[in-house]
Amino acid sequence: MRSRLILLILLASLATLPAHATPSPSPAPSRAAEAEIATKVSALMARMTLAEKIGQLNFPSLAFPYEDQLATVRQGRIGNMLNVVNPVHLRAFQDAARASRLKIPLLLAIDAIHAFHITFPTPIAWAATWRPQLAQDAAEMIARQTAQNGINLTFAPMIDISRDPRWGRVIEGAGEDPFLGSAFAAARVRGYRKGGLATAAKHFVGYGAPEGGRDYNGAQISLSELFDRYIPPFEAAIDAGTETVMASFNTVNGVPVTANRALITDILKERLGFEGIVMSDFAAIYELINHGVAGDLAEAARKALNAGIDLDMTSKAYERHLESAARAGEVPAAEIDAAVRRVLTVKYRMGLFPDSPGGVRKIPSPVSEASVRATARAVARESFVLLKNDGATLPITPQSGTVALIGAAALATSDHSWYGPAGLKKPETESLRDALESRIGTTQDLLFAEGFADPCGLSFKDKAGALAAARAANLVVLVVAEDCIISGEAASRADLGLTGVQGEMLDALAEVGKPIVLVVETGRPLALTEAVEKVAAVMVAWHPGTEGRTALAEVLTGEVAPSGKLPMTFPRSVGQVPISYGDLPTSRPATGDRYTTGYVDEKPTPLYPFGHGLSYTTFAYSDLKTSVPTMARNGRIEIRVDVTNTGTRAGHEVVQLYTRQLVAARSRPLRELKGFEKVALKPGQRRTVRFTLAAADLAYHDDEGRPVIEPGTFDVFVGGSSTADLEGSFEVTED
Ligand code: NOJ
Repeated sequence: MRSRLILLILLASLATLPAHATPSPSPAPSRAAEAEIATKVSALMARMTLAEKIGQLNFPSLAFPYEDQLATVRQGRIGNMLNVVNPVHLRAFQDAARASRLKIPLLLAIDAIHAFHITFPTPIAWAATWRPQLAQDAAEMIARQTAQNGINLTFAPMIDISRDPRWGRVIEGAGEDPFLGSAFAAARVRGYRKGGLATAAKHFVGYGAPEGGRDYNGAQISLSELFDRYIPPFEAAIDAGTETVMASFNTVNGVPVTANRALITDILKERLGFEGIVMSDFAAIYELINHGVAGDLAEAARKALNAGIDLDMTSKAYERHLESAARAGEVPAAEIDAAVRRVLTVKYRMGLFPDSPGGVRKIPSPVSEASVRATARAVARESFVLLKNDGATLPITPQSGTVALIGAAALATSDHSWYGPAGLKKPETESLRDALESRIGTTQDLLFAEGFADPCGLSFKDKAGALAAARAANLVVLVVAEDCIISGEAASRADLGLTGVQGEMLDALAEVGKPIVLVVETGRPLALTEAVEKVAAVMVAWHPGTEGRTALAEVLTGEVAPSGKLPMTFPRSVGQVPISYGDLPTSRPATGDRYTTGYVDEKPTPLYPFGHGLSYTTFAYSDLKTSVPTMARNGRIEIRVDVTNTGTRAGHEVVQLYTRQLVAARSRPLRELKGFEKVALKPGQRRTVRFTLAAADLAYHDDEGRPVIEPGTFDVFVGGSSTADLEGSFEVTED
C-alpha cells in the first residue's frame, strides 16, 4: 500500500542547478563541433598503433633527468605529464609531442588548487564565505596564473563531502553539505575553466567518508546515501563542464574505486553521463595490489581498465602491461579504444590540437599581481567565522584600550600554505602584527609577545613575556594555529584539540583575567570546548593565505564586518565525530536525557553548528511565507522571509533555508539545506529574501539510487544557521 504512494520519478529532465548557479563561461563545443571532433578522433585512431594508443593513457610524473621522458613523448608513448612546472620544461614537453609521429598534444597537469604564486585561503575557507562567486573568482585567478606557464589541467576541485574533521583533506573541500558542496563544486569548475585550465573533479567517490577519519581508509556507503550525499557535487561539476574526474584511492563497500566498474562505468560514465576522462589517482592502479584485489601489476592494469579508468597516473601499469595483455586477448581492444577515444576527445574539446573544431585553446591574458592579491583579500575577508563574541569584545576599537597580541603566528610572513606550487619563492605577506599596528597603533598601545617558538605553538618562547603583556593590557588577542602540515593529504588526526603548548598558554592567559580574543588558524573544525569557555571571542581564520593577515586585521578592527559561516560542524569532542546537522532522526531523538541518542559523558549537540557565524550586528527573521500551501510533484514553491539588521553596524547575513520531510518511506535527515543567500544590510534595514524550490529539489534516492519525490509534509526553517527556528510548512501532493 505504502509503496503505491512512493512515486519514482526519473528526474533527468527536471534536474535543476542550485538557484545561484549560472551557465558555464566555457561552454562545451557546439553539437556540430562535437560531431566533427568524433570524426577527427576516429580518423586519428585509425592511424594509431597499439603502442601509441596506450601512450595516450600513460600519465607519468616528471622525473629528472627528463631526457628519457622527452624521448618517450617523441615516440608517442607518453600522452600526458604531471608535475611539470618550469615553463622551459613545459615547452620542451609540448615540443617533443609536436615532434612525435602523430603530433598529439599533451595534457600537462599540476595541483593548482588554492595557489600558484599568490596563495589564497584554503578551499574550506572559500566555502565559509557562502559566496560561490568568490570561489569562482579565486579559481579563475589561480588558473590564469597557472595557465600562463603552459599548464593546461589542474587537479581540482576537490569536492568530497565529509562529516569527519579527523580527515585532513577537509581543508581542500567545501565541508559536510551536498547542497553547499555542489554550489562550490560548480563555481570552482567554472572559475578554473574560465582562467584557462581544464579541471579534474576529485575524488570520485566517497573518499571523504573513510572509516575512523583515516586517510585512504575504506568507506561503507549505501547506494541511497551515495546518491543523496556524495554524488551531487560531481553532478554539479559535470554540469559545469569538468573535462576530467579523478577516481578515489579508497574502497567503497569493499571494492577499491580504481577497480570498481559499478561506480566508474555504470554510475559515473553511464548514469551520470560523464563523457570526459576518468583518471586514476597517483599510483592508485599499482596500489590495487596493496588493496588485495590484484596479484600483480598486470592484473591491476586489467582491472582498472575494465573498471573504466582511462588514464594511469604514475603506476606504469598501462605502459608496461596493456600491450601484451591486448595481444594475448586478455584485454578487449574495445576497452583500450574507448579510453583512448575519451582522451583524444577531451584534447580536441580543450582546443589543444591546431585544428580543434570548437576553436584553438586561448589562454586568458596575464593577470596583474595586484588583482590576484585583491581577489585573495576579498575571499579572506568573507571567510572568517566569528564563533563567539561575548559583550561585543570585537571589534577592537579605541575603547578596547591597550591590546596585547600574543602568538608567533602573528609574526608569520610565510603564507602558511599547504600545497604551494613547486619551485616558486613565496610572495611578500604582511604579518598580523604589522597589519594591526598600522590600524590601531596610532590610537592605542599594541603590545606584542611571540609566546611560542614557532607559529604553530609547538613549544614556548618567553611565556613570561606573554603573561606580562596580558597583565599590562585591557584586551588579549591570542593567535593559535593548527600546524599546516597536519592538514591535507595523509594528515588525519586522532585529537582535535589545540596543538603543542597552545592550550597551556591559553590557560595561563585566562588566569590573568583579561578578556581574550582567540584567533584560530586551522584547516579543519577543531574541538575547542575548553578553549571557548576561557575566552570572550573566537574568530576562525582558517589558513588565510598571502593577503589573509591583512584581511584579518581589517575584520578584527571592524573595518570589515565578519560574514563567514561554518561549512562544517565544530564538535565538542572527537568522540562525537562524524557529526552533522543533517543526521537522520533516531528511535530516541537526542534530547540529552538518558536512553536517548547521545553519550553519557557528552552533550548530543555540537559546539557550533553548521551554518553558524556571527557578525558585529544582529539580524532578526520574520514573516516567513510560502507562495502556496501545496505543490504537485512537478510544482514549484516560493518561500520568502524578511530579514532585518537590528543592530547598529552594517553587516552581511547568510540567509539559510532548510527543509525536513516529516514522514517518508525512509528516515529523512533532520534538516537539509535547500537554499542560501548572502545579503548586505545597513543598520535598521529590512530585506525580503526569496527562494524558489521545485518539488524535484526535495527528491531523495532509494536503495537502487533512483530519485524519489515522495508526497507528504515538509517543514521549512529559515535563519542564520542550521538551528534556525523560524518555521513554516507545505505539502507535496501526488498530482
Ligand atoms: C594524490 C592526491 O590524492 C590527489 O588529489 C592529487 O591530485 C594527486 N596526488 C597528484 O598530486
